[in-house]
Amino acid sequence: MCGIVGYIGKRDVAPLLLEGLQRLEYRGYDSAGLVITGKPAAGKTSATLKMVKAKGRVRDLEARVPKRFAGTTGIAHTRWATHGAPSDENAHPHMDPEGKVAIVHNGIIDNADELRTKLVSDGVVFLSETDTEVVTHLIARSQAPTLEEKVRQAVRTIEGTYGIAVMHADFPDRIVVARNGSPVVLGIGEKEMFVASDVAALVSHTRQVVTLDDGEMATLKADDFRTYTTEGSRTSATPTTVEWEAESYDMGGHDTYMHKEISEQADAVDRVLRGRIDDRFSTVHLGGLNLDAREARGVRRVKILGCGTSYHAGLIGAQLIEELARIPADAEPASEFRYRNPVVDPDTLYVAVSQSGETYDVLAAVQELKRKGARVLGVVNVVGSAIARETDGGVYVHAGPEVCVVSTKCFTNTVVSFALLALHLGRIRDLSVADGKRIIEGLRKLPAQISEILATEDDIAKLAQEYAGANSMMFIGRVRGYPVALEASLKLKEISYIHAEAYPASELKHGPLALIEPALPTVAIVPDDELLEKNRAALEEIKARSGPILAVAHAPQEKADHTIVVPKNETELDSILMGIPLQLLAYHTALALGRDIDKPRNLAKSVTVE
Ligand code: F6R
Repeated sequence: MCGIVGYIGKRDVAPLLLEGLQRLEYRGYDSAGLVITGKPAAGKTSATLKMVKAKGRVRDLEARVPKRFAGTTGIAHTRWATHGAPSDENAHPHMDPEGKVAIVHNGIIDNADELRTKLVSDGVVFLSETDTEVVTHLIARSQAPTLEEKVRQAVRTIEGTYGIAVMHADFPDRIVVARNGSPVVLGIGEKEMFVASDVAALVSHTRQVVTLDDGEMATLKADDFRTYTTEGSRTSATPTTVEWEAESYDMGGHDTYMHKEISEQADAVDRVLRGRIDDRFSTVHLGGLNLDAREARGVRRVKILGCGTSYHAGLIGAQLIEELARIPADAEPASEFRYRNPVVDPDTLYVAVSQSGETYDVLAAVQELKRKGARVLGVVNVVGSAIARETDGGVYVHAGPEVCVVSTKCFTNTVVSFALLALHLGRIRDLSVADGKRIIEGLRKLPAQISEILATEDDIAKLAQEYAGANSMMFIGRVRGYPVALEASLKLKEISYIHAEAYPASELKHGPLALIEPALPTVAIVPDDELLEKNRAALEEIKARSGPILAVAHAPQEKADHTIVVPKNETELDSILMGIPLQLLAYHTALALGRDIDKPRNLAKSVTVE
């Protein structure tokens, strides 16, 4: 979604801001802009703010930046339209007519219409249709003596979510930022400071970061920063070190981030297992769980909450927890859970799952659960993200940065993380040493088996050519295979725009069989497990209606037109592998259709608004 970058220091700021914006391009946006300033002219205390904005890509913005555009302080933004269409006027930053205040904003101001009406009746002229501009005017009209106080007054007036960065011509030595529900990360340099909505924009300059909490603000000066609450009291902020290298954000010789990230999965799984397996007790150590054995034994239910792909990973996680730990477990979209006044039970362990750790629906569900006294763990990729900080403990999935809008390696690593959690809970309860050992052996086999699957990419690419002409596709699976079908169908529709449906294979005859015909290919997940014969019966039903079938299975399936054969692991872990060829199928189908794979239409990487 929207991205923020800011800098204050000694360097020429415009190229730094443009580079930062490029690093945020993956999040999806429709326009971009920046504002800069230098030192005030001799004898003046006030500086001049210079702004450039453009609808379109960062390169369109860059083309508009004048040759002579010197400055050492600036803020920049990539916008994803919410209030008002994508246009130069609606792009951020937003300035007041006098050119004193400039602001960039991520999030949504809920009471913007009301505030706009009031400001208009007071004679304020608006230059854009955005909710953000309201904040600009509130700050510009404030009589408070300091920029911090002006911003504080404004954020106390607005309702909604925001990550904002503000510059003021009368206070050219600082940038003031504030956060409520939308990420703001400070980057601490040597006599220079950075701010961004995502560490991706910072890591090529500094790995020392401070992530603001909701309700927190900060003042950045070239050689100093301080954090405080919107009420004005100081907060402590110790910088942490970002583990991810700047190079992890590069394409690394691949044509797309999606391809790079699919290809990284063997290493990513190796990383999530590293240092966690305890062969002596046939279990795993999960350092950050903050759940002792007695507490783990007291868990009566597990409820997993996530959105999109993370929800699908949670569905597999719930099955793993039920199978290995014999604790009743289920997963629900966090976006639904938070709106249905759920019964919050003290004996239930809640698990919030999120790649970004910033998805608003998940964060809001966590906050509601915490408010009601529940224990909530996180299964999160981004270290130090909002969900990681709000939860009582959890498991980092260590997938490394995921840049492509659609999630692939993080899905796989999240499922593996759930396997670790399930094994841990299982071994505290009734899972035998022998079964623990068996699962550990299975986990250890995964990286090599993933490499084996990835080596069949050319064959999958050929199949994709065949399916790229379909108008619609059906995905089916039973029990462990069903979440795999759901995720594969989501992947296909997100990047190829081919309509896809996922159903439990057991439900076919209860309705969707009516759709089966020669023009509707079905992708069937057919693991060699106790349900193999049932799955084969479903294939027969489809074949009898002349439906084309692509099976993902452990051995060629007679009724299928094609089978992608994947290596067998332990039955409980098979679903981890079965989704991987279907990521490649979605990728190559989208490629055959000429889609913009890393930036699918209408989608953004992290959904930090409702
Ligand atoms: C799909 C996809 C989305 C995300 C969802 C949750 O490929 O990436 O469905 O999974 O928006 O995002 P996180 O995991 O960051 O909470």
